[in-house]
Amino acid sequence: MKLPSRVKLVDVGPRDGLQNEKEPVPAEVKIGLVHRLQDAGLKEIEVTSFVSPRWVPQMADAAEVMAKIERKPGVRYSVLTPNMKGFEAALDSRPDEIVVFGAASEAFSQRNINCSIAESIERFAPVVAAARAHGIHVRGVVSCVVGCPYEGDIAPERVGMVARLMKEIGVQHAGVADTIGVGTPLKVQRAMEAVLGHFAVDDVSGHFHDTYGMALANTLAAMEMGVWQYDTSSAGLGGCPYAKGATGNVATEDVVFMLHGMGIDTGIDFDKLVDAGEYISGFLGRKPNSRAATATLNKRAA
Ligand code: HMG
Ligand code: MG
Repeated sequence: MKLPSRVKLVDVGPRDGLQNEKEPVPAEVKIGLVHRLQDAGLKEIEVTSFVSPRWVPQMADAAEVMAKIERKPGVRYSVLTPNMKGFEAALDSRPDEIVVFGAASEAFSQRNINCSIAESIERFAPVVAAARAHGIHVRGVVSCVVGCPYEGDIAPERVGMVARLMKEIGVQHAGVADTIGVGTPLKVQRAMEAVLGHFAVDDVSGHFHDTYGMALANTLAAMEMGVWQYDTSSAGLGGCPYAKGATGNVATEDVVFMLHGMGIDTGIDFDKLVDAGEYISGFLGRKPNSRAATATLNKRAA
């Protein structure tokens, strides 16, 4: 088994984690989370989305959050921009990376971004070109790489097709997303393989929701293929408003605990990370959705 010697985690908690919260989370709290994550050693944070506030009300303060975060040198701040309107709105915020997000499922594409897969690529193309002209790195996420809440199982060929279309328009990095967490290790490896047909292993990351508790196993399965970048969410927050029933991304705390236990470096201070998760969970009035964080907090309290 050939595993990577270091792993980069992108904390998507402020964006994926909070986008689905019903009660408004004030910008100061989102900013507080970003600051705690960067203090814990995260080198990339997905901060927010420049999407329609009618579709995702929680992200309506995107410009304010981006304007008020105190940036730490060496940290990359990314934002979601599904179309030119979103990209233009994001530009003033000086993101280091923008994310276009498509899907391997037609039905999910329609529900999530209100267009077909082919139309989404047409919308992304000018966004990608403009971002690259501004020297902004471009990540393209492929959602529903294993299963779709509306269509059921998704064939790896569909995943490969969307990855190819993204590559053709100039997307630099492919995020492989199990949106509803139905993936199991071999299915995730097949989806990864389909994407690795179009992107180099250094330009691919895993984004695993933990709905069925499979995300750590799926992370390890992808690591066995040499994939060393993963999106994770502080305190396991999250879900997509257009994927009902799907829970958050795998908790950053759980992945860090696993990696450090395997002697794999992340550059993250586990205790500070637990503090960050405790901060946002405290605001939301619930316990962190992370076994490693819960165990650590119980131990601290004892
Ligand atoms: P649309 O309605 O097709 O867009 O929405 P439109 O171009 O027809 O415009 C309609 C109205 O929306 C207009 O306003 C536009 O100005 C406005 P009106 O004239 O009616 O007042 N509008 C916008 N406003 C703000 N920002 C924008 C924007 N674009 C248009 N960027 C759109 C298309 C994509 C905007 C919409 O469907 C949308 O916002 N969807 C939300 C998608 C989303 O954020 N989903 C959650 C994130 S994805 C996710 O969680 C999955 C991921 O984690 C990976 C995984 O787990 O799978 C990434
Ligand atoms: Mg997601």
